[in-house]
Amino acid sequence: MSVADLIEGQHVCICAGAGGVGKTTTSAAIAMGMAARGHKVAVLTIDPAKRLATSLGLSELANEERRIEPEIFARHGIEMRGELWAMMLDAKRTWDEMIDRRAPDARTRDAILGNRIYQQLSTAVAGTTEYMALERIYELHEEGRYDLLVLDTPPTRNALDFLEAPERLSRFIDSRSLQIFLRPGIFGVRAFGRGTGLVFGVLKRITGSDLLSDMSEFFGAFGDMAIGIRERASRVGELLSDPRTAFLLVTSPRRDAIDESIGFRRRLRELGIPFDGAIVNRVHEAAGVDGSAEGVESDLAALLGADLARKVAENFADYRRVAERDSLNVERLRRELGGEPLVRVPLFDDDVHDIGGLAHVCEHLFAGDAVTA
Ligand SMILES: Nc1ncnc2c1ncn2[C@@H]1O[C@H](COP(=O)(O)OP(=O)(O)O)[C@@H](O)[C@H]1O
Ligand SMILES: [Mg+2]
Repeated sequence: MSVADLIEGQHVCICAGAGGVGKTTTSAAIAMGMAARGHKVAVLTIDPAKRLATSLGLSELANEERRIEPEIFARHGIEMRGELWAMMLDAKRTWDEMIDRRAPDARTRDAILGNRIYQQLSTAVAGTTEYMALERIYELHEEGRYDLLVLDTPPTRNALDFLEAPERLSRFIDSRSLQIFLRPGIFGVRAFGRGTGLVFGVLKRITGSDLLSDMSEFFGAFGDMAIGIRERASRVGELLSDPRTAFLLVTSPRRDAIDESIGFRRRLRELGIPFDGAIVNRVHEAAGVDGSAEGVESDLAALLGADLARKVAENFADYRRVAERDSLNVERLRRELGGEPLVRVPLFDDDVHDIGGLAHVCEHLFAGDAVTA
Protein backbone atom coordinates (compact mmCIF):
# COMPACT_ATOMS: atom_id res chain seq x y z
CA MET A 1 0.00 0.00 0.00
CA SER A 2 1.42 3.36 -1.03
CA VAL A 3 0.20 6.73 0.18
CA ALA A 4 0.67 7.87 -3.42
CA ASP A 5 -2.36 5.75 -4.40
CA LEU A 6 -4.44 7.48 -1.75
CA ILE A 7 -3.68 11.05 -2.76
CA GLU A 8 -2.82 10.87 -6.44
CA GLY A 9 -4.93 13.47 -8.25
CA GLN A 10 -5.98 15.22 -5.05
CA HIS A 11 -5.24 18.87 -4.53
CA VAL A 12 -5.12 19.08 -0.76
CA CYS A 13 -3.98 16.48 1.76
CA ILE A 14 -4.80 17.06 5.42
CA CYS A 15 -2.89 15.10 8.05
CA ALA A 16 -4.91 15.18 11.25
CA GLY A 17 -4.51 13.40 14.55
CA ALA A 18 -3.70 13.81 18.22
CA GLY A 19 -0.59 15.63 19.44
CA GLY A 20 2.83 13.99 19.34
CA VAL A 21 1.93 11.11 17.05
CA GLY A 22 4.02 12.30 14.12
CA LYS A 23 1.73 14.58 12.11
CA THR A 24 4.45 17.07 11.27
CA THR A 25 6.90 14.33 10.34
CA THR A 26 4.31 12.50 8.25
CA SER A 27 3.11 15.57 6.39
CA ALA A 28 6.68 16.56 5.51
CA ALA A 29 7.42 13.00 4.35
CA ILE A 30 4.24 12.78 2.26
CA ALA A 31 5.03 16.13 0.64
CA MET A 32 8.57 15.02 -0.08
CA GLY A 33 7.47 11.67 -1.49
CA MET A 34 4.89 13.25 -3.78
CA ALA A 35 7.39 15.90 -4.91
CA ALA A 36 9.91 13.16 -5.68
CA ARG A 37 7.23 11.62 -7.93
CA GLY A 38 7.15 14.73 -10.06
CA HIS A 39 4.58 16.98 -8.43
CA LYS A 40 4.97 20.56 -7.32
CA VAL A 41 4.12 20.27 -3.66
CA ALA A 42 3.92 22.70 -0.76
CA VAL A 43 3.74 21.56 2.84
CA LEU A 44 2.38 23.84 5.53
CA THR A 45 3.90 22.80 8.84
CA ILE A 46 2.55 24.11 12.10
CA ASP A 47 5.00 23.38 14.88
CA PRO A 48 8.01 21.67 13.35
CA ALA A 49 10.69 20.53 15.78
CA LYS A 50 13.58 22.95 15.48
CA ARG A 51 15.95 20.55 13.76
CA LEU A 52 13.37 19.51 11.20
CA ALA A 53 12.52 23.16 10.52
CA THR A 54 16.19 23.94 10.01
CA SER A 55 16.67 21.10 7.58
CA LEU A 56 13.64 22.31 5.61
CA GLY A 57 15.19 25.79 5.48
CA LEU A 58 12.58 27.20 7.84
CA SER A 59 14.86 28.65 10.47
CA GLU A 60 13.08 31.97 10.63
CA LEU A 61 9.34 32.27 10.87
CA ALA A 62 8.41 31.69 7.27
CA ASN A 63 4.78 32.36 6.53
CA GLU A 64 5.77 32.25 2.86
CA GLU A 65 6.73 29.05 1.07
CA ARG A 66 10.40 28.34 0.46
CA ARG A 67 11.71 25.85 -2.01
CA ILE A 68 14.03 23.17 -0.73
CA GLU A 69 17.21 23.16 -2.73
CA PRO A 70 17.28 20.21 -5.17
CA GLU A 71 20.95 19.52 -4.29
CA ILE A 72 19.93 18.46 -0.78
CA PHE A 73 17.94 15.55 -2.19
CA ALA A 74 20.75 14.50 -4.49
CA ARG A 75 23.06 14.40 -1.47
CA HIS A 76 20.70 11.89 0.15
CA GLY A 77 20.43 9.79 -2.97
CA ILE A 78 16.85 10.86 -3.63
CA GLU A 79 15.73 11.44 -7.17
CA MET A 80 13.62 14.58 -6.98
CA ARG A 81 11.50 14.88 -10.11
CA GLY A 82 9.23 17.63 -8.85
CA GLU A 83 9.54 20.51 -6.41
CA LEU A 84 9.20 20.59 -2.63
CA TRP A 85 8.20 23.83 -0.97
CA ALA A 86 7.74 24.27 2.74
CA MET A 87 6.40 26.91 5.06
CA MET A 88 5.54 27.36 8.66
CA LEU A 89 2.20 28.66 9.83
CA ASP A 90 2.28 31.99 11.57
CA ALA A 91 -1.33 32.21 12.74
CA LYS A 92 -1.02 35.79 13.94
CA ARG A 93 0.37 36.98 10.62
CA THR A 94 -2.28 35.13 8.67
CA TRP A 95 -4.94 36.93 10.70
CA ASP A 96 -3.20 40.27 10.19
CA GLU A 97 -3.02 39.71 6.46
CA MET A 98 -6.68 38.81 6.34
CA ILE A 99 -7.57 42.02 8.16
CA ASP A 100 -5.26 43.95 5.86
CA ARG A 101 -7.03 42.58 2.78
CA ARG A 102 -10.51 43.21 4.12
CA ALA A 103 -10.21 46.56 5.88
CA PRO A 104 -11.89 49.34 3.89
CA ASP A 105 -9.04 51.78 4.58
CA ALA A 106 -5.69 52.11 6.32
CA ARG A 107 -7.17 53.80 9.39
CA THR A 108 -9.60 50.99 10.07
CA ARG A 109 -6.85 48.44 9.49
CA ASP A 110 -4.48 50.11 11.94
CA ALA A 111 -7.24 50.54 14.50
CA ILE A 112 -7.97 46.82 14.39
CA LEU A 113 -4.37 45.62 14.31
CA GLY A 114 -3.46 47.82 17.26
CA ASN A 115 -6.54 46.85 19.25
CA ARG A 116 -6.08 44.66 22.31
CA ILE A 117 -9.29 42.70 21.81
CA TYR A 118 -8.13 41.82 18.33
CA GLN A 119 -4.71 40.83 19.62
CA GLN A 120 -6.39 38.49 22.08
CA LEU A 121 -8.70 37.10 19.46
CA SER A 122 -5.96 36.45 16.95
CA THR A 123 -3.66 34.62 19.35
CA ALA A 124 -5.56 33.30 22.32
CA VAL A 125 -9.01 32.22 21.20
CA ALA A 126 -9.26 28.44 20.98
CA GLY A 127 -9.28 27.18 17.45
CA THR A 128 -7.84 30.23 15.74
CA THR A 129 -4.60 28.44 14.87
CA GLU A 130 -6.63 25.61 13.43
CA TYR A 131 -8.76 28.03 11.50
CA MET A 132 -5.81 30.00 10.20
CA ALA A 133 -4.09 26.84 9.00
CA LEU A 134 -7.13 26.11 6.86
CA GLU A 135 -7.40 29.75 5.82
CA ARG A 136 -3.80 29.68 4.60
CA ILE A 137 -4.34 26.44 2.68
CA TYR A 138 -7.51 27.83 1.16
CA GLU A 139 -5.60 30.88 -0.02
CA LEU A 140 -2.93 28.73 -1.68
CA HIS A 141 -5.63 26.46 -3.08
CA GLU A 142 -7.31 29.45 -4.74
CA GLU A 143 -4.02 30.75 -6.11
CA GLY A 144 -3.48 27.37 -7.77
CA ARG A 145 0.30 27.48 -7.98
CA TYR A 146 0.81 23.93 -6.64
CA ASP A 147 -0.28 20.47 -7.71
CA LEU A 148 -0.65 19.40 -4.11
CA LEU A 149 -0.85 21.14 -0.73
CA VAL A 150 -0.09 19.08 2.34
CA LEU A 151 -1.39 20.40 5.61
CA ASP A 152 0.07 19.48 8.95
CA THR A 153 -2.36 20.26 11.78
CA PRO A 154 -1.80 22.02 15.11
CA PRO A 155 -0.87 20.10 18.23
CA THR A 156 -4.36 20.19 19.68
CA ARG A 157 -5.13 17.79 22.45
CA ASN A 158 -8.17 16.67 20.52
CA ALA A 159 -7.97 16.12 16.78
CA LEU A 160 -11.65 16.97 16.42
CA ASP A 161 -11.03 20.60 17.35
CA PHE A 162 -9.56 21.04 13.95
CA LEU A 163 -12.69 19.97 12.09
CA GLU A 164 -14.81 22.39 14.00
CA ALA A 165 -12.59 25.45 13.68
CA PRO A 166 -14.36 27.18 10.74
CA GLU A 167 -17.72 26.51 12.32
CA ARG A 168 -16.50 27.88 15.64
CA LEU A 169 -15.31 31.12 14.04
CA SER A 170 -18.67 31.50 12.28
CA ARG A 171 -20.45 30.83 15.54
CA PHE A 172 -18.37 33.44 17.27
CA ILE A 173 -19.30 36.00 14.62
CA ASP A 174 -22.96 35.03 14.86
CA SER A 175 -22.91 34.86 18.62
CA ARG A 176 -25.22 37.01 20.62
CA SER A 177 -22.42 38.70 22.49
CA LEU A 178 -20.87 39.87 19.26
CA GLN A 179 -24.22 40.75 17.71
CA ILE A 180 -25.08 42.89 20.70
CA PHE A 181 -22.02 44.96 19.99
CA LEU A 182 -22.59 45.07 16.26
CA ARG A 183 -26.32 45.57 15.95
CA PRO A 184 -27.84 49.02 16.00
CA GLY A 185 -29.38 48.46 19.35
CA ILE A 186 -30.89 49.98 22.40
CA PHE A 187 -28.36 52.75 22.45
CA GLY A 188 -29.29 54.16 19.09
CA VAL A 189 -27.37 54.07 15.85
CA ARG A 190 -24.81 51.59 17.01
CA ALA A 191 -24.25 50.14 20.45
CA PHE A 192 -21.15 52.21 20.81
CA GLY A 193 -22.36 55.35 19.16
CA ARG A 194 -23.01 58.69 20.79
CA GLY A 195 -24.38 58.48 24.27
CA THR A 196 -22.66 55.27 25.22
CA GLY A 197 -19.48 57.15 26.01
CA LEU A 198 -20.97 58.12 29.31
CA VAL A 199 -21.86 54.53 30.22
CA PHE A 200 -18.37 53.42 29.32
CA GLY A 201 -16.84 56.22 31.26
CA VAL A 202 -18.56 54.93 34.37
CA LEU A 203 -17.74 51.27 33.70
CA LYS A 204 -14.18 52.20 32.94
CA ARG A 205 -13.84 53.87 36.29
CA ILE A 206 -15.28 50.80 37.98
CA THR A 207 -13.18 48.24 36.14
CA GLY A 208 -10.19 50.53 36.05
CA SER A 209 -9.23 49.48 32.53
CA ASP A 210 -9.56 50.57 28.96
CA LEU A 211 -11.04 47.23 28.06
CA LEU A 212 -14.42 48.65 27.19
CA SER A 213 -13.14 51.34 24.93
CA ASP A 214 -11.01 48.68 23.22
CA MET A 215 -14.13 46.59 22.75
CA SER A 216 -16.05 49.53 21.44
CA GLU A 217 -13.34 50.38 18.96
CA PHE A 218 -12.80 46.79 17.89
CA PHE A 219 -16.41 45.91 17.29
CA GLY A 220 -17.02 49.22 15.61
CA ALA A 221 -14.25 48.61 13.10
CA PHE A 222 -14.61 44.85 12.89
CA GLY A 223 -18.37 44.87 12.49
CA ASP A 224 -18.45 45.67 8.80
CA MET A 225 -15.84 43.06 8.06
CA ALA A 226 -17.41 40.35 10.17
CA ILE A 227 -19.90 39.26 7.54
CA GLY A 228 -17.17 38.91 4.92
CA ILE A 229 -15.01 36.91 7.27
CA ARG A 230 -17.96 34.71 8.14
CA GLU A 231 -18.69 33.95 4.50
CA ARG A 232 -15.06 33.19 3.98
CA ALA A 233 -15.06 30.84 6.97
CA SER A 234 -17.88 28.82 5.51
CA ARG A 235 -16.07 28.48 2.18
CA VAL A 236 -12.89 27.50 4.01
CA GLY A 237 -14.95 24.93 5.91
CA GLU A 238 -16.19 23.49 2.63
CA LEU A 239 -12.61 22.75 1.64
CA LEU A 240 -12.67 20.01 4.29
CA SER A 241 -15.32 18.06 2.41
CA ASP A 242 -14.15 18.94 -1.10
CA PRO A 243 -13.80 15.80 -3.23
CA ARG A 244 -10.25 16.87 -4.11
CA THR A 245 -9.21 17.04 -0.48
CA ALA A 246 -7.65 13.90 0.97
CA PHE A 247 -8.07 13.34 4.64
CA LEU A 248 -5.49 11.19 6.39
CA LEU A 249 -5.56 10.29 10.02
CA VAL A 250 -2.18 9.98 11.70
CA THR A 251 -2.00 8.03 14.92
CA SER A 252 0.37 6.16 17.16
CA PRO A 253 -0.38 2.53 18.05
CA ARG A 254 -0.91 3.37 21.72
CA ARG A 255 -4.27 2.48 23.15
CA ASP A 256 -5.41 6.06 23.88
CA ALA A 257 -4.39 7.31 20.43
CA ILE A 258 -6.19 4.41 18.76
CA ASP A 259 -9.32 5.12 20.84
CA GLU A 260 -9.21 8.74 19.76
CA SER A 261 -8.69 7.77 16.12
CA ILE A 262 -11.71 5.52 16.18
CA GLY A 263 -13.77 8.41 17.57
CA PHE A 264 -12.33 10.70 14.93
CA ARG A 265 -13.20 8.31 12.10
CA ARG A 266 -16.79 8.12 13.33
CA ARG A 267 -17.03 11.91 13.57
CA LEU A 268 -15.80 12.31 9.99
CA ARG A 269 -18.54 9.95 8.90
CA GLU A 270 -21.14 12.02 10.76
CA LEU A 271 -19.86 15.24 9.20
CA GLY A 272 -19.78 13.71 5.74
CA ILE A 273 -16.07 14.38 5.33
CA PRO A 274 -14.40 11.92 2.98
CA PHE A 275 -11.74 9.78 4.62
CA ASP A 276 -8.78 8.44 2.70
CA GLY A 277 -6.81 6.36 5.15
CA ALA A 278 -4.97 6.01 8.42
CA ILE A 279 -1.24 6.13 9.04
CA VAL A 280 -0.09 4.36 12.17
CA ASN A 281 3.31 5.80 13.05
CA ARG A 282 5.96 4.61 15.51
CA VAL A 283 4.90 1.00 15.48
CA HIS A 284 7.11 -1.43 17.39
CA GLU A 285 7.54 -4.08 14.72
CA ALA A 286 7.72 -7.66 15.92
CA ALA A 287 9.18 -8.87 12.62
CA GLY A 288 12.45 -10.74 13.04
CA VAL A 289 11.99 -11.12 16.77
CA ASP A 290 10.05 -14.35 17.06
CA GLY A 291 11.33 -17.14 19.25
CA SER A 292 11.15 -17.42 22.97
CA ALA A 293 13.08 -15.14 25.29
CA GLU A 294 14.63 -18.22 26.91
CA GLY A 295 15.93 -19.39 23.56
CA VAL A 296 17.46 -15.98 22.98
CA GLU A 297 19.04 -15.95 26.40
CA SER A 298 20.78 -19.27 25.99
CA ASP A 299 22.01 -18.27 22.52
CA LEU A 300 23.39 -15.02 23.85
CA ALA A 301 24.93 -16.45 27.01
CA ALA A 302 27.70 -18.05 25.02
CA LEU A 303 28.46 -14.69 23.41
CA LEU A 304 27.90 -12.15 26.18
CA GLY A 305 28.12 -14.02 29.45
CA ALA A 306 25.15 -14.94 31.62
CA ASP A 307 24.49 -11.53 33.22
CA LEU A 308 24.43 -9.44 30.11
CA ALA A 309 22.58 -12.16 28.19
CA ARG A 310 19.81 -12.10 30.77
CA LYS A 311 19.45 -8.34 30.51
CA VAL A 312 19.33 -8.43 26.75
CA ALA A 313 16.78 -11.24 26.87
CA GLU A 314 14.60 -9.28 29.29
CA ASN A 315 14.78 -6.28 27.03
CA PHE A 316 13.88 -8.45 24.10
CA ALA A 317 10.88 -9.86 25.95
CA ASP A 318 9.72 -6.33 26.86
CA TYR A 319 10.00 -5.20 23.29
CA ARG A 320 8.04 -8.19 22.11
CA ARG A 321 5.27 -7.46 24.57
CA VAL A 322 5.08 -3.87 23.35
CA ALA A 323 5.08 -5.08 19.75
CA GLU A 324 2.23 -7.47 20.51
CA ARG A 325 0.29 -4.70 22.23
CA ASP A 326 0.85 -2.38 19.22
CA SER A 327 -0.28 -5.07 16.86
CA LEU A 328 -3.52 -5.66 18.81
CA ASN A 329 -4.24 -1.93 18.82
CA VAL A 330 -3.59 -1.61 15.10
CA GLU A 331 -5.93 -4.53 14.47
CA ARG A 332 -8.61 -2.79 16.52
CA LEU A 333 -8.33 0.28 14.29
CA ARG A 334 -8.30 -1.90 11.18
CA ARG A 335 -11.58 -3.50 12.20
CA GLU A 336 -13.14 -0.06 12.66
CA LEU A 337 -11.94 1.01 9.21
CA GLY A 338 -13.31 -2.03 7.44
CA GLY A 339 -11.58 -2.05 4.09
CA GLU A 340 -10.22 1.47 4.32
CA PRO A 341 -6.46 1.87 3.83
CA LEU A 342 -4.08 1.65 6.75
CA VAL A 343 -0.35 2.26 6.39
CA ARG A 344 2.18 1.43 9.10
CA VAL A 345 5.44 3.25 9.76
CA PRO A 346 7.81 1.64 12.29
CA LEU A 347 9.39 3.37 15.23
CA PHE A 348 12.93 4.27 14.22
CA ASP A 349 15.88 4.26 16.57
CA ASP A 350 16.34 7.99 16.06
CA ASP A 351 14.11 11.01 15.74
CA VAL A 352 13.26 12.14 12.25
CA HIS A 353 14.89 15.51 11.88
CA ASP A 354 16.33 15.80 8.40
CA ILE A 355 15.84 14.90 4.75
CA GLY A 356 17.51 11.52 5.28
CA GLY A 357 15.10 10.73 8.12
CA LEU A 358 12.13 11.79 6.02
CA ALA A 359 13.39 9.52 3.24
CA HIS A 360 13.19 6.57 5.69
CA VAL A 361 9.62 7.47 6.54
CA CYS A 362 8.87 7.71 2.80
CA GLU A 363 10.15 4.18 2.25
CA HIS A 364 7.31 2.96 4.42
CA LEU A 365 4.65 5.45 3.36
CA PHE A 366 5.33 4.73 -0.29
CA ALA A 367 6.18 1.05 0.12
CA GLY A 368 6.66 -0.84 -3.11
CA ASP A 369 6.94 2.45 -4.91
CA ALA A 370 10.39 3.74 -3.97
CA VAL A 371 12.25 6.60 -5.60
CA THR A 372 15.46 6.34 -3.60
CA ALA A 373 18.29 5.83 -6.02
N1 LIG B 1 8.55 6.75 13.01
C1 LIG B 1 9.25 7.48 13.89
N2 LIG B 1 10.32 6.94 14.53
C2 LIG B 1 11.03 7.65 15.43
N3 LIG B 1 10.75 8.92 15.76
C3 LIG B 1 9.71 9.53 15.16
C4 LIG B 1 8.90 8.84 14.19
N4 LIG B 1 7.94 9.70 13.77
C5 LIG B 1 8.13 10.86 14.44
N5 LIG B 1 9.18 10.76 15.27
C6 LIG B 1 9.66 11.79 16.21
O1 LIG B 1 8.64 12.02 17.17
C7 LIG B 1 8.58 13.38 17.55
C8 LIG B 1 7.18 13.92 17.33
O2 LIG B 1 6.90 13.93 15.94
P1 LIG B 1 6.06 15.11 15.28
O3 LIG B 1 5.98 14.81 13.83
O4 LIG B 1 6.63 16.42 15.64
O5 LIG B 1 4.66 14.88 15.98
P2 LIG B 1 3.35 15.81 15.97
O6 LIG B 1 3.51 16.78 14.84
O7 LIG B 1 2.20 14.86 15.76
O8 LIG B 1 3.32 16.46 17.29
C9 LIG B 1 9.64 14.09 16.73
O9 LIG B 1 10.79 14.24 17.51
C10 LIG B 1 9.92 13.12 15.57
O10 LIG B 1 11.25 13.23 15.09
MG1 LIG C 1 3.44 18.78 14.92
